[in-house]
Amino acid sequence: MNAPKILFICLGNICRSPTAEAVFRDYAEKSKLEVTVDSAGTGAFHIGDPPDPRSIACAAERGYKMSHLKARQIQIEDFYIFDHILVMDESNLANTLDIKPPNSEAKVELFLNYSTKKLADQSVPDPYWSGPDGFNVVLDLIEDASKHLITYYKDRRKC
Ligand code: 4NP
Repeated sequence: MNAPKILFICLGNICRSPTAEAVFRDYAEKSKLEVTVDSAGTGAFHIGDPPDPRSIACAAERGYKMSHLKARQIQIEDFYIFDHILVMDESNLANTLDIKPPNSEAKVELFLNYSTKKLADQSVPDPYWSGPDGFNVVLDLIEDASKHLITYYKDRRKC
């Protein structure tokens, strides 16, 4: 199996998807899984911005580095570059599928499909308008789904 190319998607690409990028990259390195990882937003309003300082601070408390990342908007080319596009919520899913070219073979799905937690829904809640707790909830969900996404890819590597 070629090294999978994975793209995480949220709305602004300053809170949830860059956090997923940083956490999943860290897990992949630690488990010696060769991957390409990136993130993008469906919206354009934060293009070029660093992640939200609250995301950077919460991630740093758990040892993840993300201050070097810069927000970008998903491009049509991404549907041909990436194998697996993992979105944070139902709205991101609808917006991403809306622009997916019919001949793209990328698998687009909710990131929390890989969570084993019993959840009310399969969305990573948008923390942008929340207090600090929201950012820790995001990290808890992303760590859990990342762990199981690593297992998914390690199992596929054995095929
Ligand atoms: P994200 O969070 O999609 O997790 O990056 C948001 C960031 C910014 C905004 C909304 C959500 N905003 O409205 O500016």
